[in-house]
Amino acid sequence: MSETQGPKIVCIGRIYCDLVFAGVPRMPTLGSEVFADNVSLHAGGGAFNSAVTFCALGWNTALSGTLPATPFDTQILTEAQAVGLDVSLCRQAPPGASPQITVAMAIQGDRSFLSNKSGKAAPSLDTTHPTCRTVRHMHIGEIRTLYEMPALLKQARTAGWTISLDCGWDDELMPQGAALNKLVSQVDVFLPNEIEFETLKASGLKSDVAPLTVLKQGAKGATALSDGQRLQLPATPVQVVDATGAGDAFNGGFLAGWLTGEPLGTCLENGNQCGAKTVGNIGGTLGLLAKEPMLKASL
Ligand SMILES: Nc1ncnc2c1ncn2[C@@H]1O[C@H](COP(=O)(O)OP(=O)(O)OP(=O)(O)O)[C@@H](O)[C@H]1O
Ligand SMILES: [Mg+2]
Repeated sequence: MSETQGPKIVCIGRIYCDLVFAGVPRMPTLGSEVFADNVSLHAGGGAFNSAVTFCALGWNTALSGTLPATPFDTQILTEAQAVGLDVSLCRQAPPGASPQITVAMAIQGDRSFLSNKSGKAAPSLDTTHPTCRTVRHMHIGEIRTLYEMPALLKQARTAGWTISLDCGWDDELMPQGAALNKLVSQVDVFLPNEIEFETLKASGLKSDVAPLTVLKQGAKGATALSDGQRLQLPATPVQVVDATGAGDAFNGGFLAGWLTGEPLGTCLENGNQCGAKTVGNIGGTLGLLAKEPMLKASL
């Protein structure tokens, strides 16, 4: 691969292997057993899901994170290879690490999750690594990763990269908004969902702390907040099949527009399209890989 063809975007964060139990008749209760219709394995985590969306939109992208312990790493590597996602910045889990996996139960159109976080958020990022030579943007999959690795901000700026940050649901950090102002103020684009943002604000995060905040509002669409202005765009109507990863897919679509200098309205539209495409397909972000020419053409 020549220099100019290398990754333009690096996505960093926790990488999970999701064990998705589908057709679950009811939530298991203590002392009882429930049988699902089927179970399948999928790569997961915000960084992976957004990275796959960038790939689907034609952006050379690298993933940086620790692979779940074997045998679950195979799933991530196989899915990454299928979409051309560069994994040269990823590391194996240390010996003896417990696998970073999520059990997802799909019950009547919704899902509940049980996850195991293992070890550090991600390996240290070496911005002098050959993979990083062509990078111009870093997307951080969840605020917890930035909280654990604040040096990422300086590293990215020194390398001349722009920075985006998803929040990701985090029971411990979301009620600590005041303490997060300093970190969030240093990213270019902050992309929480509406509940995450409201919880952060209620605990002291300033609403205009990032130069551009993009609120993901589910079936209502999304709102961009910048320079004291609000721009709201309704969602793309779609039949909900599987909402997993919609927020991460939205990030990919929005940021692909933002990185090409599109007006905010177009970025929101692209984000909404990617979110809707994911919601309308089984298997989260990978549904995007059915490749809608519309998505590419609009960028
Ligand atoms: N029911 C829906 N109909 C149409 N579009 C949707 C729907 N749900 C989500 N989307 C699209 O996906 C985007 C992201 O969804 P959402 O607001 O649920 O993010 P999130 O809560 O961060 O998701 P995730 O659970 O993946 O973290 C929305 O802004 C919207 O564009
Ligand atoms: Mg989200």
